[in-house]
Amino acid sequence: MHLSAYSGCLPKVASNTTVFENSNVTDKEAQTVSRQANYSFAICDLSSELMRATKNISFTSLKQLGIRRSEAANADLISFNPLSKTFKLKGKNMEYVMHVDPKTSDLVNVHWGKSGDKPFPLSKYKKMANSSWQSEMDVIPREFPDAGRGDNRTPAIQISTPEGITTSQFEYKGHEIIQGKPELDGLPSLYGDKDKAQTLKVRMYDKAADLELELFYTVFKDKDVICRSSRVINKSDKPVSIEKIASISADFPPDDYKIMKLSGNWANERQEEVVDLKPGNFSISSRFGASGHEHNPYLALYSDKTTEDKGNANAFSLVYSGSFSAEAEQNREKCTRIVMGLNPQAFRWKLEPGKSFQTPECVGVYSSDGLNGLTEQLHHTFKDNLIRSEWKDKERPVLLNTWEASYFWFNHDKIVDMAKEAKKIGAELVVLDDGWFGKKYKRNWDRCGLGDWETNTGKLPKGLNGLADDVTKLDLKFGLWVEPEMVSPKSELYEKHPDWVISQPKRDKTQMRHQLVLDMSKKEVQDYVIDSMSKILDGANIEYIKWDMNRSMTEVGSNALPPDRQMETQHRYMQGLYRVLDTLTKKYPHVLWEGCASGGGRFDPGMLQYFPQIWTSDNTDPLDRLNIQAGTARVYPPIAMGAHVSKSPNPITKRKTDLEFRFDSAMSAGNMGLELDPRKMSRQEKELAKEKIEFYKEVRPVIQNGEYHQLRSPFGKNWSAVQYTKDDASEAVAFAFQKQKQEGGYVPPIKLAGLKENELYKVNDQPEPLSGKRLMSAGIIPKFSKDNDSEVYHIKQVG
Ligand code: DGJ
Repeated sequence: MHLSAYSGCLPKVASNTTVFENSNVTDKEAQTVSRQANYSFAICDLSSELMRATKNISFTSLKQLGIRRSEAANADLISFNPLSKTFKLKGKNMEYVMHVDPKTSDLVNVHWGKSGDKPFPLSKYKKMANSSWQSEMDVIPREFPDAGRGDNRTPAIQISTPEGITTSQFEYKGHEIIQGKPELDGLPSLYGDKDKAQTLKVRMYDKAADLELELFYTVFKDKDVICRSSRVINKSDKPVSIEKIASISADFPPDDYKIMKLSGNWANERQEEVVDLKPGNFSISSRFGASGHEHNPYLALYSDKTTEDKGNANAFSLVYSGSFSAEAEQNREKCTRIVMGLNPQAFRWKLEPGKSFQTPECVGVYSSDGLNGLTEQLHHTFKDNLIRSEWKDKERPVLLNTWEASYFWFNHDKIVDMAKEAKKIGAELVVLDDGWFGKKYKRNWDRCGLGDWETNTGKLPKGLNGLADDVTKLDLKFGLWVEPEMVSPKSELYEKHPDWVISQPKRDKTQMRHQLVLDMSKKEVQDYVIDSMSKILDGANIEYIKWDMNRSMTEVGSNALPPDRQMETQHRYMQGLYRVLDTLTKKYPHVLWEGCASGGGRFDPGMLQYFPQIWTSDNTDPLDRLNIQAGTARVYPPIAMGAHVSKSPNPITKRKTDLEFRFDSAMSAGNMGLELDPRKMSRQEKELAKEKIEFYKEVRPVIQNGEYHQLRSPFGKNWSAVQYTKDDASEAVAFAFQKQKQEGGYVPPIKLAGLKENELYKVNDQPEPLSGKRLMSAGIIPKFSKDNDSEVYHIKQVG
């Protein structure tokens, strides 16, 4: 048994999986096997030895051993020492180490940090348990902590069985190493090629509850990212209730920690807030069925010595768009646990015998280069391993959205006229926003019509098709707004299907923006949405869709579910929505899909899988946007951020700003568009707009696909700056902003980043080129002269 079990950990020919069953392999047995396999290792990391060994083995021997070259090439990402039962997962610069505790068979974390750095010793953790009230369980760093067996910190899993078991005891049973990154069924998830990523699946088993737990860990060759999720399988013959199940749990050694979170509200999303962590439980969450405006599903944890560019930092970003919770719990020794996943206050799951439950994924990031290092990793991970759209790397068109220009009041001719003017200044796509549909209940205001996805021919006598054709004839693309997850009580859809909405028995249905939420957990509702959206897309030449969602959930429940499953509604809604989005985005892959939820109320990695861009905020005020955009770019690549130039005074803040400042602020976010009536612009404004759009198009490849550097954060500061740099550092664009003019005229220099020190660069029209070193050390001093001022620098390598 021992020998065969051990050989079982070698890769097999026909699969891309390495399986290891738990067994007590002795040192001697390991050496025997290693001799047989022609390797020379005793107590070692299997996969890295395998990597070294395979270099000296012929292809035939590799084949005999059942090892494919791609596996061998990838073999150093995840390794397992069968004697000490230690897993080592490696990224570009990071290492994630954990082992199976010999006494308890619990999975214990040893290190998550820079490769080669010394971990905080386990013995020191153990000494922290210093009274009869505290067991070792309460202090050691655990991979997936359960509740009620001595670990009094917040758990990652909480169950309840019909026999009354409310604790769990998962013990290591075995593991598999999978080449690449398997995608999750029915949930958004990262992907990764076999030669660039490896996934570890650890199998744990709870004997008393007869439950299996699978813990997934993926590492990527070129990143310091660990992607985690978990799955529970009910092996018993009775249903089990899952009360809480996290996607990730991570314990960190003692330190003075800070948390950075992105919080806010409608029109003020993702403001960076830093909190000093103290003993106790700190959490952010959403409970109302969307990730929300209030807190993004993101946390960064870092030592108070860490800066923007230096020091250790970790970040957690949940690939999910519904209710979530992120907890940071610190004990009195300042050890800190992060637990992130579905919000237990909006979730419970009855798991029938033989069934499994898979959690969403969480992207965990490590950086030794401070907070900016986290941002760089996240941008690359989302661009390389999450966004799937055909538009992923394509330059995004400059669009004109009609919302702030005309709200519900438009007709065919008005849109075509706006399109003509927009074309003259350089727009490439015209998007018709809300108000185009409804036959019996015409959508001329927000009180009716949602759900009735038929063109209002009073406004658009040639139909959507006719409008799309007339816009397309102008050499512009045509796009459309929809809000498919909703229904107005005043709609034909609601008259036909009053039972299709999220609701609870005997409770009034709270309306928000005069609308109700469709029950996307129901297959027939999902199919209705797929069909009605398909009809729209098949009926006209539509190349862009803005998918909106304008209210939170209340009285959450589904009449398709029995009483004991009502708390499953929110997650089932998300599963249904993801099915719809998956179907539609695959059916219409050429369409540029943009997500929206009253601005940026659902700007999260879950949505990014389907929507390569998301409307950042309903607040288009260029000054407020500096913070909103910088907060969003902390996590999300700027190419994903819709940023529009709107009219002045701004419709929401009433603030007056110059058109130039509005353009520079929008452009600096990555994906610029227009949200105004170009017919109403003066001649000078049109000339400036044309010039600005021309410039934007020239630098768009650098802005949208270059490296993002936040040179100076706008949070709490009067001056801010951001830079985008081409991959080979031959070109960059930098934007500098001043909020208020200061007496005395002092303005700090903008020190550029990521240039080649010894090369010369020309900045705008300056005759004298400057060295990269000088631009990065002395920098450029912006010539600001007024409130809300901006400067743009186009930096090009000379020669
Ligand atoms: C909310 C969005 O955020 C706006 O941009 C606009 O599309 C409106 N909905 C339309 O109702």
